[in-house]
Amino acid sequence: MPPKLKFVDLFSCGGGMSSGFIRQGSFQTIGAVDLEVAKPSHGIGATFCNDTYERNLGLRPMSADLAITTPDEVASHFGFTASDVDVLISCAPCTGFSQKQSRNHIKDDRRNQLVERAADFAEAWRPKYVVIENVKELLRGRHKHHFQALHERLAQLGYDVFAEIHDLKEFGLPQSRIRSLIVAKLNGTFHLELPRVNKHRTVRDAIGHLPALQAGATSQKDEMHTCPNLKGVSLERMKAIPRNGGSWIDLTEEQAHLRMDRLMSLPTILQFWKTARVRRRTSPLAFLVRTYQILRTDNAVWRTGCVSASPPFSCARLVNIKIAAISCGR
Ligand SMILES: C[S@@+](CC[C@H](N)C(=O)[O-])C[C@H]1O[C@@H](n2cnc3c(N)ncnc32)[C@H](O)[C@@H]1O
Repeated sequence: MPPKLKFVDLFSCGGGMSSGFIRQGSFQTIGAVDLEVAKPSHGIGATFCNDTYERNLGLRPMSADLAITTPDEVASHFGFTASDVDVLISCAPCTGFSQKQSRNHIKDDRRNQLVERAADFAEAWRPKYVVIENVKELLRGRHKHHFQALHERLAQLGYDVFAEIHDLKEFGLPQSRIRSLIVAKLNGTFHLELPRVNKHRTVRDAIGHLPALQAGATSQKDEMHTCPNLKGVSLERMKAIPRNGGSWIDLTEEQAHLRMDRLMSLPTILQFWKTARVRRRTSPLAFLVRTYQILRTDNAVWRTGCVSASPPFSCARLVNIKIAAISCGR
């Protein structure tokens, strides 16, 4: 049997990516690094994901800030040398790229720069492959310059960079989950043909065998099988959603009281106005009025201090509408 390829997982979290590599059978982990942060407000070490990684993969990740930790520090922590590393995995946080976070339409989150750290590690270790997974906005979104900078540096280092966007339901995940996949190969060209499933897997296919639970209960046989303690309107809403692919968009007018409102505060809207593009075209008042006009025609209501819209709007969608309101309204 050929020797296993050795990988290091940066931003290793609970080890999702590492587990995929291990399950494939030809790889072994020789290092992993994660600072165990979710929201910056929760602080360092808040997620305990290094415990999870250790339990799943049998290797204790280094708890370190990858914004400042050097490749040498990681290598000496685990006792490997640069030539040991065949594959570098680097899945930096996606929160600052995702369009689902409305502030990402305005601000380039400081954490987005972590994407480019993969190039520093690739330069130091020269792995045969660099593998990155992130939200689709890494390749297509407003802050894609971080990927472009990484691409440029990897190309200068001699890597061929393959980058595609995929919906993971095409590969058997029981969820529509659209992700960027980037694989860079040193000294050679790279193209990946991924095997697709013939039939999409449903959530029922995946977990339908588990016994039904009451709201708030946990299975005695399996503590991971647990049901959120939904009450009142939340529970009613859940019951009202049609089975087999339904969503809150399917709720009827009679069930409108069960729809969940998405609220967006005036300060958030005014943040938009502050972006240079918007400010050049309109005053803050005109901007608010125009936003209101647009939303009013689209099943949204104006409330004290907030714009509120029922599904099918998401916050990100509201933001897009507001931006459109400015560009076409004057
Ligand atoms: C998207 S998750 C990675 C998921 C992982 N690849 C998997 O497959 O399970 C991003 C991880 O980056 C970590 N992280 C965020 N900022 C970091 C930093 N400055 N240094 C090191 N790790 C960081 C977080 O703790 C989080 O676990």
